Amino acid sequence: MHSKLEILILAAGKGTRMRSGLPKVLHRLAGKPLLRHVVDTAHDLGAAQVCVVYGFGGEAVPQAMADDKLTFVLQAEQHGTGHAVKQALPQLADDSVALVLYGDVPLTHVSTLQPLVGAAQAGKLGLLTVNLGHPDGYGRIVRESGRVTRIVEHKDATPAERAIQEVNTGVLAVASRQLKRWIAELKNDNAQGEYYLTDIIAMAVRDGVEVDTHQPAHEWEVLGVNSKAQLAQLERIHQNEIALALLDAGVTLMDPARIDVRGTLTCGCNVTIDVNCVFEGRVELGDGVQVGANCVLRNVTIAADTRIDAFTLIDDAEIGEANRLGPFSRIRPGTTLARDVHVGNFVEIKNSQIDDGSKINHLSYVGDTTMGKKVNIGAGTITCNYDGANKHRTVIEDEVFVGSDTQLVAPITVGRGATLGAGTTLTKDAPAGELTLSRAKQLTVSGWKRPVKQKKEG
Ligand code: UD1
Ligand code: CA
Repeated sequence: MHSKLEILILAAGKGTRMRSGLPKVLHRLAGKPLLRHVVDTAHDLGAAQVCVVYGFGGEAVPQAMADDKLTFVLQAEQHGTGHAVKQALPQLADDSVALVLYGDVPLTHVSTLQPLVGAAQAGKLGLLTVNLGHPDGYGRIVRESGRVTRIVEHKDATPAERAIQEVNTGVLAVASRQLKRWIAELKNDNAQGEYYLTDIIAMAVRDGVEVDTHQPAHEWEVLGVNSKAQLAQLERIHQNEIALALLDAGVTLMDPARIDVRGTLTCGCNVTIDVNCVFEGRVELGDGVQVGANCVLRNVTIAADTRIDAFTLIDDAEIGEANRLGPFSRIRPGTTLARDVHVGNFVEIKNSQIDDGSKINHLSYVGDTTMGKKVNIGAGTITCNYDGANKHRTVIEDEVFVGSDTQLVAPITVGRGATLGAGTTLTKDAPAGELTLSRAKQLTVSGWKRPVKQKKEG
């Protein structure tokens, strides 16, 4: 029987170099706070408890994460990583194993952390280290005859120790009972006057606990965010990983360096995505879907064989099979498009249901509308759904033909098969099967002359 896993996430630091009032761990990577990435990883590891040590920014951190089953521990003043862990010790069971993560290191893979947890469950201390060409600033892993004996912080290190390229990532796992004992022994008699979590390594060695080091598959898995530049760098690395996974899954990306996924993007077979598209929240693309350049898709499901042309924005909507949208279409929340629907340029649709085969191809606003099958909406049609106080619905039944430049003043119903003449302002229901129009009669003034410019005298 393995001991249960409890995870501590250190997230009390200020992040001065972010130059922001927002606590560092709440800055977003791929649309999600840094801390949320770490919390998600902690849950993926199957932690029985996830405990976040917060400090800078006060309640902003617990508030931003409030939807989660997390334990929050305040570290009011930051006296070092050992001090941070100490604040959380009362939360830990004696018979668990504890894994320490940092809230500003967002991209560590679960598979990199599992061996450390395994080591702790086997009575060892699991330590994640990495070899860096430029190890400046990091704690160095000191070994004797190959075995780890201690960690020395950069500021406390001798020149010989500073030459060591194997550094501490900060991630470690060990039995909680031992962690509690060692943390109680920490002193702050060092160059920074801090309580160093890293001092427990020498204590483990002293107590005969084996230190079992592991290395991540990629260096970027252990990189932290201290500045906007580092945040941007990790964003690119992460987006590249997502793009490679999409390519592996058979998605065609016209340029894997020009796609941004801020959430989850699920694709069927033969999906093609052109450059500069942004996917936010949960987006699902069915088989054969094609997305043109510069589209933004947020919380959208798109069924098979639909084509989205360039510069289209879709927000919170359900798009059916074999539709054609764009270029330059805007689909707003609450919209469902059935099958074979065409939506063209400069068309905005909000909170509307459009049934099979209907076409809204140019320059129109359709809001709060229920539209039947095979309806044709002419250019420049507007549903006037808002009277200044309330929103009203428009109902357009099957096979209606709406002429160009028509206003439909809701609440209103256009009966099945009706035709509305161009330029109509419809204020009463239009009967099924008839032509309805509101239009001043055309008139010609015969013999009328245009004014002529008068010549100036002198
Ligand atoms: C620490 C390690 C160092 C390692 C480096 C990796 C110690 C003493 N040193 O360096 O060996 O190479 O990480 O990046 O552990 N934090 C708190 N409260 C505090 C101090 C820190 O919550 O009082 C959090 C920070 O928010 C951050 C993490 O702990 O997420 C690491 O703190 P940071 O100051 O960046 O690390 P160092 O102590 O410099
Ligand atoms: Ca640091």
